[in-house]
Amino acid sequence: MPQIAQRVSQSTKKSYGMYDRARKLAATGADLIHLELGRPVDDTPDHIKQATIDALRAGHVHYDDMQGNPLFREALASKLASFNGINASADEVLVTNGLTQASFCAFMALLNPGDEVILLDPYYPQHVGKIELAGASCVRVPLDAANGFSIRADWIEAAITPATRMIVLVNPCNPTGRVYSREELQSLADVAIRHDLFVVSDEVYEYITFDAPHISIATLPGMRERTISLFAFTKAYAMDGWRLGYAVADTAFMPALRTIATSAVTHVNTFIQYGGIAAVNGPAQRLEEMVSTDRKKRDLVVSRMNQMPGVRCASPEGTIYAFPDISDTGIAAQSLAERILDEAGVVVEAGSFYGASGEGHLRICFGSQTEERLSEAMDRLARFFNDRVD
Ligand SMILES: Cc1ncc(COP(=O)(O)O)c(C=O)c1O
Repeated sequence: MPQIAQRVSQSTKKSYGMYDRARKLAATGADLIHLELGRPVDDTPDHIKQATIDALRAGHVHYDDMQGNPLFREALASKLASFNGINASADEVLVTNGLTQASFCAFMALLNPGDEVILLDPYYPQHVGKIELAGASCVRVPLDAANGFSIRADWIEAAITPATRMIVLVNPCNPTGRVYSREELQSLADVAIRHDLFVVSDEVYEYITFDAPHISIATLPGMRERTISLFAFTKAYAMDGWRLGYAVADTAFMPALRTIATSAVTHVNTFIQYGGIAAVNGPAQRLEEMVSTDRKKRDLVVSRMNQMPGVRCASPEGTIYAFPDISDTGIAAQSLAERILDEAGVVVEAGSFYGASGEGHLRICFGSQTEERLSEAMDRLARFFNDRVD
């Protein structure tokens, strides 16, 4: 039999965490509450749907500009200036199928086989497979739980070798919920500049911050020209199924990014980009309501989890995830997540799924359920932790 390509069989991306185990259990009729997938519970706002339907009816059904609809890219350039403080022209924006395609383009366009890429551990695991598909390898630099998972520039610097080419930053951070401060970002930027590295900055949770403002690392001095900033409509606009995102980079990199993008899918769906225009130009109130609901859910999860024996839950500054410390239970995170699924019917991820530094933690997505259902999940978890027999 012919064999599949080595680049696929050698990739370490073999698992979707608890997803498969939960699916099997759900097929037996179990009543599960899903707090594992980062899928917003809300519906996409009506004005976005209506603009998309209007575009479809108006005949926007053909190939558009390969880099993305020019009107859409203009709207994104305005948003980048007003919300992120990034001065980018429409030519420096590439529209993609979600952030996933944007990151794939960045890794494939910028990495050579043998290159090393620094990930801050805990990290977003889906980046790993793409980096490895590009022939590069991941160097995991631990963040310290005892230090609130802050960026340690000295640890990053210690991991740099002549093969290091890039640092991947996820800010706000999935899974820890950290929103990095200007000082932390500056310390990382200093290392990137000193060693002439690219930074790929995944900002899919840019709007979902509770206590600290989101800062795009591309706005720091000397960073714009070496940073590929990645965004998507996925989380804040509850558009995960639409598949709409974008990459922002210096024009020098755009031909390479476009080459990769168009090799895989040629274009992003034409009429959906009109929904994107409506989202960007639409009322800010919708985003504010969404963040305020997520804040309530965050507060609920943090206060409930801190009452459970063996659990210490820091308050995430952003994202839709809590990352409680369960090390006092003495049970490994994966075993605990499996027991919670089997015994309490709640699906959570083991922190160790996000790297060695995530051991001793669970990742709980509070944005994926209504407040009522989240509250029921907390009741189930409270029963589990109170009754737990080791
Ligand atoms: C950090 C991070 N990056 C990227 C993605 C994927 O985004 P998209 O669905 O827009 O491809 C997610 C989704 O959970 C995420 O958490």
